[in-house]
Amino acid sequence: MASKKLRIVQWTTGLVGRSAVRAVLDHPELELVGCYAWSPDKVGRDVGELCGFDEKIGVPATNDIEAILALRPDCVLYMPLQWVVDDMVRLLEAGINVVSTANFITGKSYGEQDMRRLDEAARRGGVSLYGTGINPGLANVLGLVATAVCRRVDRVSVLESVDATAYASAQTWLDIGFASPPDTPGLYERAKTRMLVFLDAVEMMAAALAVELDEVRFDVDFGVAKKDLDLGYMKIAKGTICGLKSVWSGIVAGKSVIELGLLWRLGDAMDPDWPTEEGYVIEVDGVPSVRARYAIQYPANLTDFGVATANPAVNAIRAVVAAPPGLVTADRLPLVTAAGFVAGG
Ligand SMILES: NC(=O)c1ccc[n+]([C@@H]2O[C@H](COP(=O)([O-])OP(=O)(O)OC[C@H]3O[C@@H](n4cnc5c(N)ncnc54)[C@H](OP(=O)(O)O)[C@@H]3O)[C@@H](O)[C@H]2O)c1
Repeated sequence: MASKKLRIVQWTTGLVGRSAVRAVLDHPELELVGCYAWSPDKVGRDVGELCGFDEKIGVPATNDIEAILALRPDCVLYMPLQWVVDDMVRLLEAGINVVSTANFITGKSYGEQDMRRLDEAARRGGVSLYGTGINPGLANVLGLVATAVCRRVDRVSVLESVDATAYASAQTWLDIGFASPPDTPGLYERAKTRMLVFLDAVEMMAAALAVELDEVRFDVDFGVAKKDLDLGYMKIAKGTICGLKSVWSGIVAGKSVIELGLLWRLGDAMDPDWPTEEGYVIEVDGVPSVRARYAIQYPANLTDFGVATANPAVNAIRAVVAAPPGLVTADRLPLVTAAGFVAGG
């Protein structure tokens, strides 16, 4: 393993950010040197306190991007609810690598112009921008890797099928349309827009499989609450949306070749009562066909459910720092593993 620790700044300490901080602190090759806070009341407070840890870390949060640049970190872990391209550009052109979970895979869903701006900024700064998470992110890589046994592939499908009640990011759910009546005008577009990054993930997979897609389609059905739900972090009234079943389909010659499906439900009373697989189901139809289930089993005492999203980002840092300048996608990186975290390693 390389000896020099990489200097890391954590950008926001929400659900995912808190898990990322824990991983950075525990990683032998990483050093937390700074933290950006979006909420004004978090500025000046210690990261340990912001993350709900027992101990202080000696790193205060700031909302001054100049102060972040002055730290000259090797990498920013960029994990805000809503991305700000101007901030990302400033980090990149200052020579700071960015690993993001903020809806970044290829960057196309940010719009062509912003995608180009980010690529140019990264090249100017001689650094890379990489987006990941569990899904999109690692789940797509699992789907790609599953095809390696095939000599013919007719369809690759990755389905995330979970009771997501523990994912306590109310704004995420509200943005998609949860807690709204199912006949709310514009719901399809709203859900599609909020989840557009999955279209990027379909395109990334297509590029990795050397397939040219004719189009990518989005279909969604919603489930509604059969009773009033109080999830602690948000309330969902009876008759409003508490779940969805959606699929992004990459089409070639009228056939769906790459499918990214989501089945999410919140609470314990949804109509229709779609059963979940509690994991990621990967299916490859071809010669041979494959079916695999990737189930993340959290320890009973674990409270930070951002861990599955945060760790594919933290574990990719060294590869991203070493990558050629510009935007980088999962299929262009070396294998990302939990190196550094192996017990006794
Ligand atoms: N690919 C994946 O697998 C995956 C999975 C889950 C989430 N995500 C993405 O990862 C990111 C973080 O998710 P999360 O669950 O940690 O979200 P979150 O807890 O709801 O919010 C993260 C942080 O964003 C900041 N924030 C809140 N409102 C904001 C706004 N309007 N503009 C800019 N920043 C704002 C806050 O920072 P402060 O704490 O500093 O106030 C908040 O703590 C999101 O972009 C989410 O979409 C990706």
